[in-house]
Amino acid sequence: MLHLLIEAELKRAVRAAVPDADDLPQIILMPCRDTRFGDYQSPCLIALAKALKRNPRELAAQVVEKLTGLDALHVQVEIAGPGFLNFKLLPEAISGAIAQACKTNKPFILPRENPETIVLDFSSPNVAKPMHVGHIRSTVLGACLARIHRLLGNKVISDNHIGDWGTQFGKLLLGWKQELDQQALEQDPIGEMERLYKKVNAASEQDPAVLEAARRELVKLQDGDKENLEIWRKMIQLSQIQFDEMYHRLGVQFDYTLGESFYNDRLKDVVKDLVEKGIARESEGAYVVFFEDDPELKEHPALVQKRDGASNYATTDLATLEYRIENWKPNRIIYVTDGRQQLHFKQIFSIFKRWKGEVNVQLSHVWFGTILGSDGKPFKTRSGETVKLSDLLDEAEERAMKVVTEKNPSLPEAVRKNIARVVGIGAVKYADLLPNRQSDYMFNWDKMLAFNGNTAPYLLYAYTRIRSIFRKYKESVGTAFDPMKVEADQLNLNQPKELALAKHLLSFGIVLQQAADDSKPNILCNYIYELSGFFASFYEECPVLKADVEPMTRNSRLALCYATAQVLRIGLQTLGLETLEEM
Ligand code: ARG
Repeated sequence: MLHLLIEAELKRAVRAAVPDADDLPQIILMPCRDTRFGDYQSPCLIALAKALKRNPRELAAQVVEKLTGLDALHVQVEIAGPGFLNFKLLPEAISGAIAQACKTNKPFILPRENPETIVLDFSSPNVAKPMHVGHIRSTVLGACLARIHRLLGNKVISDNHIGDWGTQFGKLLLGWKQELDQQALEQDPIGEMERLYKKVNAASEQDPAVLEAARRELVKLQDGDKENLEIWRKMIQLSQIQFDEMYHRLGVQFDYTLGESFYNDRLKDVVKDLVEKGIARESEGAYVVFFEDDPELKEHPALVQKRDGASNYATTDLATLEYRIENWKPNRIIYVTDGRQQLHFKQIFSIFKRWKGEVNVQLSHVWFGTILGSDGKPFKTRSGETVKLSDLLDEAEERAMKVVTEKNPSLPEAVRKNIARVVGIGAVKYADLLPNRQSDYMFNWDKMLAFNGNTAPYLLYAYTRIRSIFRKYKESVGTAFDPMKVEADQLNLNQPKELALAKHLLSFGIVLQQAADDSKPNILCNYIYELSGFFASFYEECPVLKADVEPMTRNSRLALCYATAQVLRIGLQTLGLETLEEM
């Protein structure tokens, strides 16, 4: 947080020092590698001096003269080497930040001056199909990005773009009418619908008459046939119940669930508009967008209307984009799906530029890799089926229950169950967020449930350990530690381990911003893991509650513990993990 204030001050000073340079280089601060010289460093003046053909040390001296706001921040600056600026945080700066962090639920985060509106399109499973392990990544990642942006002060609109329209409904309707097992539907609606689909699908591969019958059901649905519409609605409703159950377990909510079908009556106009603007053109009875000038997409024209007049996934996404822009006026739209949809979104974004180039919105496809089994192939059940999300979460809780019981057999069963739920679901989520999202990762129960290493159980446990310091404090003193009473001038942080921990805490906001900019929660995971490391070595060397610790030192260390717990808790919750007070 302080880092951003220094950066802003530096930007201001550079502008004041060279008022007529128009192309300023990027002015950024980086943590110093060798903290003996300072906490943050900026090499930007060297590049600027070069561009202006000036002596860098002279320029640096001029900029330093303009850095009048540093005193108020309790920051010192020095010119080093060929013209680097080194910034050093004075103890007051650090104490001030720690004291402030004790009193807020947004520690070390600078409120945004101009919040962005961000539409997040994630999860988006398909009706009549079970949510599988692939959907977990979109759900967990998307929900985490939503939380990061909200924490930073942006306005997030989350929209679950469920697949509730398309050719699959022809087969589903035919199956429903001919083969429905009412009892099975009641017991396991999605399982039954999946069975129906698979059955008709296989039959239609053998027999063109079945395919034709399914097509007729689809046309009837599209034409608004009452019976078919009713069945279709039922399928959506039954699926939504199952989705909601998963979202409840995963602690995920959406502001909107506007499925694909929501855009049906906009599709014709989209195609018409694209044709009128010369973006789509007729090709053998269909309408197609060609990308002649784009070497990457040249070979991949996008179909926006099939020969039979039906629109498709791409048309729907264009209509969706138009709707979101009209209604929500976002600065940014983020789509979270697996890497196999990269081509689709490249096409959509490219069409959009030609279609509505004047609209100022940043479109990002945040894609992720595949979850692999221990054999290095996409994660499957033993019998080769895709893993259902509900089974996966059940197993996570069961396995966590074993681990928790081993560690703490004396706790009542209900307590252990709740811990197991938090740890199990947390472990699955954390394992999903920790690897760089674009790489495939190997699903490994033992690794994700281990109590040491960069895992959810380890971090959740680290949090409870800090909380236990406050319980012990209350027991010995009689009153609870009051974070609202922490004052900067009552803090005395001078031990190297105290300072190292404090400085790491200070960069929480920067890390969140980085994770938001790159849509990479793994940056936050690693930060939190490092934080618990800094805390562990601080706690080893700096006693807090021992009798011979002076009151001011104890107070300072308690504040540091409190701020650490705050950042750990908020960090874990932002990743989507529930935290526990005791484990
Ligand atoms: N339903 C799609 C699937 O399961 C994902 C939709 C992603 N969002 C979008 N606007 N295309 O693959």
